[in-house]
Amino acid sequence: MSSPSDAKHTLINNRCDKKMTKTVLPATIIFLMLLASSCSNKETGLKDAFEGDFLIGTSLDARQILGTDKEAQSFIVKNFNSITAENAMKWENIHPYPGKYDFALADSMVSFGQKNGMFIAGHTLVWHSQTPDWVFQDSVGAPLTRDALIERMKDHISTVVGHFKGKVKGWDVVNEAVDEDGSLRKTKWLEIIGEDYIQLAFEFAFTADPGAEFYYNDYNNEFTDKREGVIAVINKLQQKGVKIDGVGIQGHWHLDSPDLNVIDESISKYASLGLKVMITEMEVNVLPTPPEVYGADVSQQAKYLESLNPYPGGLPDSVSNLLAQRYADLFSILLKHKDAVTRVTFWGVNDGYSWKNDWPIKGRTNYPLLFDRNYKPKPAYYAVIKEAEKQR
Ligand code: G3I
Repeated sequence: MSSPSDAKHTLINNRCDKKMTKTVLPATIIFLMLLASSCSNKETGLKDAFEGDFLIGTSLDARQILGTDKEAQSFIVKNFNSITAENAMKWENIHPYPGKYDFALADSMVSFGQKNGMFIAGHTLVWHSQTPDWVFQDSVGAPLTRDALIERMKDHISTVVGHFKGKVKGWDVVNEAVDEDGSLRKTKWLEIIGEDYIQLAFEFAFTADPGAEFYYNDYNNEFTDKREGVIAVINKLQQKGVKIDGVGIQGHWHLDSPDLNVIDESISKYASLGLKVMITEMEVNVLPTPPEVYGADVSQQAKYLESLNPYPGGLPDSVSNLLAQRYADLFSILLKHKDAVTRVTFWGVNDGYSWKNDWPIKGRTNYPLLFDRNYKPKPAYYAVIKEAEKQR
């Protein structure tokens, strides 16, 4: 299956393959010069279909950053113009021990992004998860005081944001601070510092790199109760004059949930606060979800049952078509809001890399992205391209 724009790209690329060293007539020379200039452009891919609408990003893991997956880097450059570290910038990785920062993997990702002119998103500075226990304890293991934890948070944010100053253009400053009912999540940050830990985090980030953008990022923040909680957090920051530029809706979505109207309404509500809206971790789960599991909380795990892993040998066409339709519907909403939506980032470059193969049940075979395990575009890819072309 191929789309018209794909056909156009293939045509240009095939022409580019031909050697242009023959003797030719003058008119033909001009044509060939024009063609040559198009040949000097990078290969076109997914991102190009949304040029002028919003950035198209992907998360990267160590195998892609370091190039151990040989095919990955050229594929990423072709299809994405924004990158986010799936794990490399999280506290436990970048600041594993007191006073010890490890920037090696994140630095490699940032230089890959810079070399290829990509928007580099920083994920994430303050989160309850993947943050080592020592962060909240003193040297004898007793809970830190409020002042000491503020100092530790300040050191972390200033060091990390300062290290990438001018390179990482936008930061998920605070991640997942609101619970499903809209109240603030009961984390160590909240318990020890109090509600103003969120404001302090944004202020420390701004001081470290005033030129960057700063975001609040969460999952399920399109559902009413949680959304109201997130809006309350944002209102408070704005009332205090704290710089917040955008909100990330992670977008860990399913074939049948959330309802499109909920997403539509949420983008409008967040945009009406004067914020950029980003879908920061998009994928569409196609496997059965155990009822006790919702959202994207990594601490939730369920037991493996064969009935919960129905497609180990490949996705049936019927489900693949449902996935394509779901992606088309989602992108039609995102394009409707293209004035507010600035970036859509997929959480994984292809199905094989998705965290959804191991969460909430380890060892399943999921198919939540636009590219299959061999980097081949799926029907969902063409459905998304078609949505982009409809509006041209
Ligand atoms: O790096 C170790 C490796 O050394 C070890 O051999 C292996 C054994 O399990 O674990 C590896 O670490 C894992 C890491 O992913 C890299 O694969 C961690 O156990 C695992 O917990 C970690 O999961 C990540 C999870 O966040 C927790 O940080 C997922 O890859 C990542 O996709 C997921 O992303 C989060 C976003 O940051 C925030 N929003 C929700 C989203 C999904 O949970």
